[in-house]
Amino acid sequence: MSISIYPGSFDPVTLGHIDIIKRAAKMTDVLIVGVLKNSAKRGLFTIEEREDLLRQVTKDIPNIEIKSFDGLLVDFAKENNANTIVRGLRAITDFDYELQMAQTNRALYEGADTIFIPTSIEYSFLSSTTVREIASLGGDVSKFVAPYVEEKLKEKYNTK
Ligand code: PNS
Repeated sequence: MSISIYPGSFDPVTLGHIDIIKRAAKMTDVLIVGVLKNSAKRGLFTIEEREDLLRQVTKDIPNIEIKSFDGLLVDFAKENNANTIVRGLRAITDFDYELQMAQTNRALYEGADTIFIPTSIEYSFLSSTTVREIASLGGDVSKFVAPYVEEKLKEKYNTK
């Protein structure tokens, strides 16, 4: 059985992430979306909220599991018997960091390899950081996130 992990911060999940999740889910038996618990970086949404957003926006995809993890990604991969790590590539500017991370992870653990999926062109400029900024300033993020996430952003920023 092939088990893959799509790791990230997902603060919040965007349509770009959903695009990668849908495409990756077709390539594997189980796709685990792994939300990083990073205590050093306090995000907008709590880990539980991020997991809830991810569950809501992926509820129609049958082979998805949403989990959170701390520590090393490769340890999370080992614990879950995952043999593939999935990352989206938006542009060449992502590549240096992503290649370094993939090679580091492979040096730490040979049991899982990274595959890169190019982000669909319509989402190639999108990031959670810009979504948060637009939402915080009362802008329209409906082209960038699912309606449920848009709603939760409005609640967070009191821009209803
Ligand atoms: O969505 P992001 O913030 O780009 O995701 C980054 C993530 C979670 C994939 C990365 O920070 C990560 O894997 N962190 C876990 C710690 C780890 O394993 N570090 C060594 C990898 S070089």
